[in-house]
Amino acid sequence: MGRTSKDKRDVYYRLAKENGWRARSAFKLLQLDEEFHLFQGVTRAVDLCAAPGSWSQVLSQKIGGQGPGHVVAVDLQAMAPLPGVIQIQGDITQLSTAKEIIQHFEGCHADLVVCDGAPDVTGLHDVDEYMQAQLLLAALNIATHVLKPGGCFVAKIFRGRDVTLLYSQLRVFFSSVLCAKPRSSRNSSIEAFAVCRGYDPPEGFVADLTKPLLDHSYDSDFNQLDGPTRIIVPFVTCGDLSAYDSDRSYPLDLQDGSEYKYTPPTQPPISPPYQEACTLKKKGQLAKETRPQDCPISRVDVPSQPLTSPHHTLLAPEVKHNKPNCT
Ligand SMILES: C[S@@+](CC[C@H](N)C(=O)[O-])C[C@H]1O[C@@H](n2cnc3c(N)ncnc32)[C@H](O)[C@@H]1O
Repeated sequence: MGRTSKDKRDVYYRLAKENGWRARSAFKLLQLDEEFHLFQGVTRAVDLCAAPGSWSQVLSQKIGGQGPGHVVAVDLQAMAPLPGVIQIQGDITQLSTAKEIIQHFEGCHADLVVCDGAPDVTGLHDVDEYMQAQLLLAALNIATHVLKPGGCFVAKIFRGRDVTLLYSQLRVFFSSVLCAKPRSSRNSSIEAFAVCRGYDPPEGFVADLTKPLLDHSYDSDFNQLDGPTRIIVPFVTCGDLSAYDSDRSYPLDLQDGSEYKYTPPTQPPISPPYQEACTLKKKGQLAKETRPQDCPISRVDVPSQPLTSPHHTLLAPEVKHNKPNCT
């Protein structure tokens, strides 16, 4: 076991480190490009939800632009610098971030907008799919401002209940929309990528960052899209069949049989959200999750002051002050 077990279980994780990519996601974009030649003729690109930056690495290496600014990368999280990549730290669903991105393209258009955005998954499928759809639509909104006519938009999509609505919305703006599943994306994941080519907004369309694109009242039980409004997009798997299967474990001697050497991650994340929890755990101050039903009633009913979260806390009971000890 230990730190090499992930290398065995996840061949793309291991290959990413060995090839200097910051994340295994690099292979998803590379395999999408193998299938769709996404980078052909591209000199300017936007990478939305870019941290830790493997897609930006791929873009800056593969596209033909020169000098700083041919890739604009955006993420909520800080990202270590990359040559030729302008970075913006911000939320792509916020108007201010969208405006900042657009400013970098003053007078010019992007050829390609990509978005690998993923929300913090809650495990509640409807919530996760909704959040994912919101990210995709925020990305599409930004794309409508910066993309050149005929340009390409590639975005992570969860193939959930309301995915048909998303496809229909994307088809309003692009002449071709399909759903692609790179080999490096696990079969067990509902993740796929919408590959939208030929940006061609409807006549008279005025890009407006303030108008949400998702119809909040849409409900697939009562509001089925059918007839010409129901768009079923082609589903394409990409990455050669000889490529590694992301759901399999592989032995650690892929290349020439020489002794396996562990490779550390190319770029560890900068202040990731879990860092505080790790520090507390090292100090033995991380509390176990407690459920209200496990607490003695008297303690749950009469807290000496309100709890910020009724279910769990980062602090162990001994470092909490004036809070009931429910463990
Ligand atoms: C799967 S990771 C992206 C990996 C990246 N493509 C790479 O190759 O390194 C998803 C990213 O989405 C970002 N994200 C999620 N919601 C966001 C939002 N509202 N605005 C900006 N970034 C967001 C997360 O911070 C996370 O870094």
